[in-house]
Amino acid sequence: MLPEVLSLLNPKPGQTIIDCTLGGAGYTSAISAAVGQKGRVISLDADQMAIANATALLEEKGVKNVTLVHENFKNVASVVAEHLAGQADGIVFDLGLSSAQLADETRGFSFQGERPLDMAFGAGEAQSTQHLLNSSSLSDLTSIFRELGEEPQAYKLAKEIITSRKVKPLRTTKDLVDIILKITPPRYKTTGIHPATKAFQALRLATNDELGSLRTALHDSLEILKIGGRIAVVSFHSGEDRIVKQWMKHESTDCICPSTAPVCVCGHLASIKPLTKKPLIPASEETENNPRARSAKLRGAEKIR
Ligand SMILES: C[S@@+](CC[C@H](N)C(=O)[O-])C[C@H]1O[C@@H](n2cnc3c(N)ncnc32)[C@H](O)[C@@H]1O
Repeated sequence: MLPEVLSLLNPKPGQTIIDCTLGGAGYTSAISAAVGQKGRVISLDADQMAIANATALLEEKGVKNVTLVHENFKNVASVVAEHLAGQADGIVFDLGLSSAQLADETRGFSFQGERPLDMAFGAGEAQSTQHLLNSSSLSDLTSIFRELGEEPQAYKLAKEIITSRKVKPLRTTKDLVDIILKITPPRYKTTGIHPATKAFQALRLATNDELGSLRTALHDSLEILKIGGRIAVVSFHSGEDRIVKQWMKHESTDCICPSTAPVCVCGHLASIKPLTKKPLIPASEETENNPRARSAKLRGAEKIR
């Protein structure tokens, strides 16, 4: 959704923009060109592979106005404090997984082939997916699949994982896919969507505490942005979009007292103005070329106080 993100953020020469999700550096490169030599982009990624790839790419292109930081965006406030004197003109999030991560055979983001059960973006910070699958309780596993994956077979899947791991702990993505295929009723096998899609997404979100990081970063982005600065968030998961929507509603509302309160006692003042009434979705050409973009939603806002 790069064109839509650029039009929302509206980066101008000389500005400083924070890209919280560097990935393949597509957004970073476009924003770097828009802010020009007098501007600056500070780009974060929790994944060292993204930092290494972008370092090589930006060097090859001779790009000099980008600072790359290997860090989880839940710590974006301290990254900005360390690298920038003052506030930023924009901040962008393009959440989730990059195509390089999906293709990385040393990790287990894809349900194709047989890979280690490792869905961590950053080594060390996230908990291991393998540990989560082999040690979580029935109720915790069920909640992960139900709440983060909206997986219709959540309880059945969690129960089968527990039965199976008593015989042999799960080690690879294939071990997990085999269990998923075993419990999936035939009617779910013909929908065109792989039966493991939702469970894999849920485990990735849980491994990296992706929703928790998003809540923290949205909260801190108000400190990071200057007045008139803009935020743009692209999400791919209903839980992520809900968090962004609720945050925008809360921060763009003056009084947040219960409707039964006779007078305002909260003193809350709106600090942002939404730029998107409803989330923007990708143009049909983008979804034709990139089916993963089908579920993308973009929301944006401008800081007003
Ligand atoms: C969808 S990709 C971003 C693609 C990027 N906009 C581009 O143009 O190539 C998401 C990236 O965000 C990173 N990421 C996800 N959650 C993160 C977090 N909490 N902190 C830092 N990076 C994160 C992932 O490692 C991945 O590289």
